[in-house]
Amino acid sequence: MHVVLFISLLISTINGLIISQIRRSSLFITNSSCALVLNVTLPVGSSIQTCIWKCNHEDQCQTGVYYHENRTCLLFSEDCQSGKITSSGNVQTSVICHRRNQGSNNQCSRRNWTMTGNMNIRRHRHTASMLSNGRILVTGGLNVNTNLNSAELYDPSAGNWTMTGNMNVARYAHTTTVLPNGKVLVTGGLNAGPLKSAELYDPLTGNWTTTGNMNVARQDHTTSVLSNGKVLVSGGWGAGGAQNSAELYDPSSGTWTMIANMSIGRQFATASILANRTVIVLGGWTGATYLNSAELYDPLIGNWTLTGSMNDVRKDHTASILSNGKVLITGGLSNNYLKSVELYDLSTGNWTTTANMNIERSQHTASILANGKILVAGGYNGSSSINTAELY
Ligand SMILES: *[C@@H]1O[C@H](CO)[C@@H](O)[C@H](O)[C@H]1NC(C)=O
Ligand SMILES: *[C@@H]1O[C@H](CO)[C@@H](O)[C@H](O)[C@H]1NC(C)=O
Ligand SMILES: *[C@@H]1O[C@H](CO)[C@@H](O)[C@H](O)[C@H]1NC(C)=O
Ligand SMILES: *[C@@H]1O[C@H](CO)[C@@H](O)[C@H](O)[C@H]1NC(C)=O
Ligand SMILES: *[C@@H]1O[C@H](CO)[C@@H](O)[C@H](O)[C@H]1NC(C)=O
Ligand SMILES: *[C@@H]1O[C@H](CO)[C@@H](O)[C@H](O)[C@H]1NC(C)=O
Ligand SMILES: *[C@@H]1O[C@H](CO)[C@@H](O)[C@H](O)[C@H]1NC(C)=O
Ligand SMILES: *[C@@H]1O[C@H](CO)[C@@H](O)[C@H](O)[C@H]1NC(C)=O
Ligand SMILES: *[C@@H]1O[C@H](CO)[C@@H](O)[C@H](O)[C@H]1NC(C)=O
Ligand SMILES: *[C@@H]1O[C@H](CO)[C@@H](O)[C@H](O)[C@H]1NC(C)=O
Ligand SMILES: *[C@@H]1O[C@H](CO)[C@@H](O)[C@H](O)[C@H]1NC(C)=O
Repeated sequence: MHVVLFISLLISTINGLIISQIRRSSLFITNSSCALVLNVTLPVGSSIQTCIWKCNHEDQCQTGVYYHENRTCLLFSEDCQSGKITSSGNVQTSVICHRRNQGSNNQCSRRNWTMTGNMNIRRHRHTASMLSNGRILVTGGLNVNTNLNSAELYDPSAGNWTMTGNMNVARYAHTTTVLPNGKVLVTGGLNAGPLKSAELYDPLTGNWTTTGNMNVARQDHTTSVLSNGKVLVSGGWGAGGAQNSAELYDPSSGTWTMIANMSIGRQFATASILANRTVIVLGGWTGATYLNSAELYDPLIGNWTLTGSMNDVRKDHTASILSNGKVLITGGLSNNYLKSVELYDLSTGNWTTTANMNIERSQHTASILANGKILVAGGYNGSSSINTAELY
């Protein structure tokens, strides 16, 4: 017989997520058929909040069990409370559980996508960057056939969008990068032809100023801030087709320098920085074929190497590094517009699928919010620009 001596139900808002916390002063036997995602002993000084944080930041986690006495934090991928976890005795343990909304009556649910506020302007081939104040800056893009110089800010706490200063140059198929000083670097893109120009956004004033031009005019390229503070720009489309060239921006001088070429010219790829500071450039389009290949740039060696390929070919997807180090790939285009989502596990080198988005999108954006959720906004579905946004 399993006796729960007392249960206190605490409703608390942690990082904006609603958590139900069921505290049981009991011996807690994890007699669970649920899949264990993680079993960690937390450092001295940790609390249940640390276990909740781990659950929030582990994309598979729905239930966390915390043993106070030995600081063991177990994370499960399902709702393990309803009959799947048994308890008896006198050891204090807490069960924590994600809830999707107030009406869900303490039932855990898998992380899923929900709609949030619409942008003021429909746009695709725009960019999104998270500012140090937690807001998301969306810049430029196309509204059907109109080049946009407008920019808007998403407030995650209010779930709505406001306009900010306009860029000097209307552009789409450009990139934006948040620099260590908090300013946002915009590079290249398309306006009549591929652009060399770059500009800086100051979040404090909401205004834009121009900085040094790139050596190569390019659109649909990638940018990454390296650990040395310089910005790597790779690939894109320019004179002669898909570019294999790459260059570095020095924020202290506002100037650009060419570096080693990639092995393949690619546009519409993504570039992400792995935990070991290596840059991974994924997928894209050569002008003739969709790519699933990936290559790595090691800033210390200053060269490119090919690595394992994705399962699916795709361009115009997004790639986000989750707090557990995995890379989340959403949507994009191959032979169809995609709502599929894949996760890349760096430690195994394997790709797995996870919940689909509600809507097919390519040329959209994905941003990791402070609460660990991923905001996906806008995009294009083959017939229309999209103003909807969803959260994972
Ligand atoms: C664990 O669950 C199984 C099947 O539900 C049950 O037979 C067994 O007695 C349980 N063990 C404990 C220690 O509760
Ligand atoms: C978690 O790991 C600890 C230490 O390795 C082990 O004693 C315990 O049985 C594990 N718990 C589960 C549920 O796997
Ligand atoms: C922590 O305590 C629980 C309950 O006594 C036990 O099931 C678990 O195996 C312990 N974990 C470790 C790492 O000792
Ligand atoms: C996710 O959301 C979609 C649409 O809102 C719904 O149809 C689906 O059942 C949800 N999946 C889960 C696992 O909650
Ligand atoms: C956004 O939401 C907040 C809080 O509800 C409100 O104060 C603000 O006026 C809204 N802004 C816009 C642009 O709707
Ligand atoms: C920002 O731009 C506006 C419009 O050009 C200008 O009036 C304002 O002075 C600028 N603010 C700063 C801090 O540069
Ligand atoms: C890089 O590639 C371009 C064109 O693809 C070529 O002209 C150039 O010589 C290459 N640079 C190096 C250093 O190999
Ligand atoms: C960079 O990689 C290319 C191709 O693998 C190789 O030929 C070249 O020697 C490498 N350069 C350096 C500096 O490692
Ligand atoms: C960084 O991680 C990637 C992916 O696991 C690996 O291929 C690469 O060799 C690593 N680079 C370094 C310098 O450790
Ligand atoms: C990785 O994928 C291969 C082939 O599908 C499979 O054999 C292997 O077990 C997977 N590894 C992990 C850790 O999932
Ligand atoms: C594309 O989006 C528009 C606007 O939301 C919608 O009306 C249309 O059905 C969508 N087309 C496809 C193919 O999903």
